[in-house]
Amino acid sequence: MENEVKKKRVLSAVQSSGTPTLGNYLGAFKNWKNMSEEFDCAFAVADLHAITVRQEPAKFRANTLGMYAFLLAIGIDPQKSPLFIQSHVHQHAELSWVLNCYTQFGELSRMTQFKDKAASHADNVNLGLFAYPTLMAADILLYNAELVPVGDDQRQHLELARNIAERFNGVYGDVFTVPEAYIAKAGARIKSLQEPTKKMSKSDPNINSFILLDDAPDVIVRKFKRAVTDSEACVCYGEGKDGVNNLIDIYSCCTGKTRDEIALEFEGKGYGDFKMAVAEAVVEELRPIQERLAQYKSDKAYLEQCYRDGAQKASYVAERTLKKVMKKVGFVL
Ligand code: TRP
Repeated sequence: MENEVKKKRVLSAVQSSGTPTLGNYLGAFKNWKNMSEEFDCAFAVADLHAITVRQEPAKFRANTLGMYAFLLAIGIDPQKSPLFIQSHVHQHAELSWVLNCYTQFGELSRMTQFKDKAASHADNVNLGLFAYPTLMAADILLYNAELVPVGDDQRQHLELARNIAERFNGVYGDVFTVPEAYIAKAGARIKSLQEPTKKMSKSDPNINSFILLDDAPDVIVRKFKRAVTDSEACVCYGEGKDGVNNLIDIYSCCTGKTRDEIALEFEGKGYGDFKMAVAEAVVEELRPIQERLAQYKSDKAYLEQCYRDGAQKASYVAERTLKKVMKKVGFVL
């Protein structure tokens, strides 16, 4: 249609580090699906980023494919939104090299994620870990993304991508689209079920603190039954009620009900009833995803067809941007 408003372009990517948690899903991926309906999106499994820490080859391969299958299972339509594996689109590595030469040592040294990871992997502070943000900038800038959904931990990297783009444009003219962070309207920050002031994380040694997306229904019920609450016996949102607040958020994300509606629904009822309702809502939310995941994981041919096709579509856009960059810089083409 001639007067149709052009949809904004979005790019996001996720590292393939095993099964995501309910927190990853409600906080990020559910929003990817919503964005894919509203915007012109492309999504990648960032396997090149993953090798900045040591990976066991067979597990790494399985995790990459597992994450890819998971993104299909949450309902991203690969026909509408190119869905690809980062290493399949060689332009990412190439552009990241060029961007490395437009990024200062001091800038990368200030990245808090680098400082944290360097401290926690002191035996392997490799150059890739240091240059991680320029590869992420390449991911984004190759697709002229206008919006990038990011959590708090990636905000500094996105800011750096913006700075690199502006610097490059300052020298060579308008080559890159300067991306903006997209903060989801209803992005929930799901907390640990055991220590609800902390983020839900699968690296938590207490397995009752997190729900994995492939947890079976009885496991989900058991984990919610053990979730920490408080002694007030009131299903309502409030200060100092971190455990209950977290359960309300989870219930709200899965059912679409507001905090007030939830308080009304459970008025006069105990935490036992509420926890069961939350568990059931989560089981129902995950059921179709788990079913599709099993289906995709067992259909290797379909998966392969999707990621080859995604890489082809992504390469087409990426190559155009890369060629433009190389030309501007003065490479012989
Ligand atoms: N670094 C991101 C993370 O760990 C993943 C990522 C890689 C990404 N490339 C990206 C996110 C481009 C957004 C855009 O979460």
